[in-house]
Amino acid sequence: MPMLNGAGLFSLSGGLAWHMRALRHRKGWSQFIAAVNWWLGTWNHGCKGLLLLGPSAGWCLQGSFLAGFQRIHAIDLDPLAPAFFKRLHGSDLGRVGTTLTWERGDFFERLDDLLRLYPGHAILFTNVLGQHALHQREPGRAESDLKALATRLLGRQWASFHDRLSGTWPTGRPIPPAFRLEKAEEATVLAARVAGQGEWIDHLTTHVLPDNCKRIVMPWPITPGKLHWIEAGHVA
Ligand SMILES: C[S@@+](CC[C@H](N)C(=O)[O-])C[C@H]1O[C@@H](n2cnc3c(N)ncnc32)[C@H](O)[C@@H]1O
Repeated sequence: MPMLNGAGLFSLSGGLAWHMRALRHRKGWSQFIAAVNWWLGTWNHGCKGLLLLGPSAGWCLQGSFLAGFQRIHAIDLDPLAPAFFKRLHGSDLGRVGTTLTWERGDFFERLDDLLRLYPGHAILFTNVLGQHALHQREPGRAESDLKALATRLLGRQWASFHDRLSGTWPTGRPIPPAFRLEKAEEATVLAARVAGQGEWIDHLTTHVLPDNCKRIVMPWPITPGKLHWIEAGHVA
């Protein structure tokens, strides 16, 4: 297996710390999880199989979405992801007979092979592309990898929900509603619209989705006092 850029069990984007965080805070994510899964329900992919990229345990996914597929192949760096995923979603998938297979690896490196091996599968990036910059030492590499994705995926049904911005949000301050965008919005423009005061992290995902792709932007109060803005869109 190629070296995984420090990701895996102890990772900046997943692993043990992510599972602990999800176990502790997931109750507070119910509106976000409902919004993500509502949006997934609007995805007319027409596919029986799904490639699930970076799903971790699927803490933000619902069994009702996953059980709509006959076959799911998942890939994640985290060796704990399959066991947690099975615990959360195993019974929903078992009830409808969905086949679930896993591999441990880096989907950026494996993408071309996966597309060839699973030609009829829809592809879902599960809140992972916004963390790509955490795994890259080379300046500019993350942004260029992300920008190149839409071309690599040409002709496929794919979707992504990913971080756009993250920052502090005073506890008790109302969480703003989700909203739609007709096309890509630069991070500075988005920040002026949603971020309020303080410093916000740009997750470099402005050009993940093709520029003319319609999308929704959803607030995710990940922990008390911290808010992420998640963009979601599907591409035919
Ligand atoms: C924030 S978690 C995803 C959360 C997920 N949507 C959920 O509902 O739990 C990000 C996951 O992506 C994985 N990951 C990050 N970069 C990856 C890569 N290049 N290839 C495979 N997995 C990756 C991490 O190991 C982690 O499990």
